[in-house]
Amino acid sequence: MAAPPTAASRHVGEHRPVLFNETLAALDPRPGGRYLDGTFGGGGHTRGILDASAPDGLVLALDADPDAIRRGRNLARQRDYASRLILVHANFSSLASVARTYGFTPLNGVLLDLGLSSFQLADAERGFAFRLDGPLDMRFDPTAGLSARELVNTLTEAELSNLLFQFGEERRSRQIAAAIVRERAHTPVTSTGQLAAVIERAIGGRKRSSIHPATRSFQALRIAVNGELRALETALADAVSMLAPGGRLAVISFHSLEDRIVKRFIAEQTTTCTCPPEQPVCTCDTLPRLRKIGSAIRPSANEIASNPRSRSATLRIAERLVDTAPGKTI
Ligand SMILES: C[S@@+](CC[C@H](N)C(=O)[O-])C[C@H]1O[C@@H](n2cnc3c(N)ncnc32)[C@H](O)[C@@H]1O
Repeated sequence: MAAPPTAASRHVGEHRPVLFNETLAALDPRPGGRYLDGTFGGGGHTRGILDASAPDGLVLALDADPDAIRRGRNLARQRDYASRLILVHANFSSLASVARTYGFTPLNGVLLDLGLSSFQLADAERGFAFRLDGPLDMRFDPTAGLSARELVNTLTEAELSNLLFQFGEERRSRQIAAAIVRERAHTPVTSTGQLAAVIERAIGGRKRSSIHPATRSFQALRIAVNGELRALETALADAVSMLAPGGRLAVISFHSLEDRIVKRFIAEQTTTCTCPPEQPVCTCDTLPRLRKIGSAIRPSANEIASNPRSRSATLRIAERLVDTAPGKTI
């Protein structure tokens, strides 16, 4: 295995927003509108929303990562944005309470652009990247919760194996969990490079797969460390409650576990009737709260060529309905 890059080759990259035009078209920002960006990251989408909703559209932008919020202060100081951008260090699972605290309701649009920014991936110290050697952390918010190092060194072999299988869809989860437990019996697993090497030794090189052998395990650990799927479920439900009729929800996901949650959520919220199929007349009180807008949007070949990080992105869009449905009364 090639030696991971050293501290000297660490760099902080740029983050290019994915599906930028498609996301802005989905949110359709208007002057005077109120938009919540739950994943500020490098601020690319936020800036797009601010520009499209000028001169007086407002954005409440959250990020769980204090570094993202720190970097965003520059944007928040710019003349065109200063009075229109509120930046808050918060998990999007608490978007409803943050929006209420700032009197930022109802919302005309909510964006969740899930996963990692290029800044996080390029910073070895954050421990997200198996290609860079750094401390095994993986927390979006390094000030809270358990790091990947703590999980990897304390979970039982069965717990580790379940985690890798459930959140990484890793078929060789048992082999990897066993190898981790063998390794930590004599040396605690503390760095990304060490973990990647253990996984590579456990399941072999890259001969039959286009992805690095540690890809799925790193994804699984990151999801577990940050409680990502639970946070997404909470945020989706709260976002819909906070949207004004006609307000748009846009979610960009990067792997099938997230996308499944988003797809299922939109399907549930667009359901008009939950009566048994054999029942001739609808007697349920189900009111659809969302209207699905189009089908899943994927990046173009051009976007993938110019920004390979976009290759696994999927954008789903829905619009908030008023709380009535044809033939039903409130
Ligand atoms: C893909 S980046 C967003 C990029 C952004 N749209 C842009 O244009 O620069 C994802 C960001 O969401 C943040 N994030 C991920 N999960 C989060 C959560 N549950 N709550 C708040 N922020 C989260 C990450 O810290 C990261 O900065």
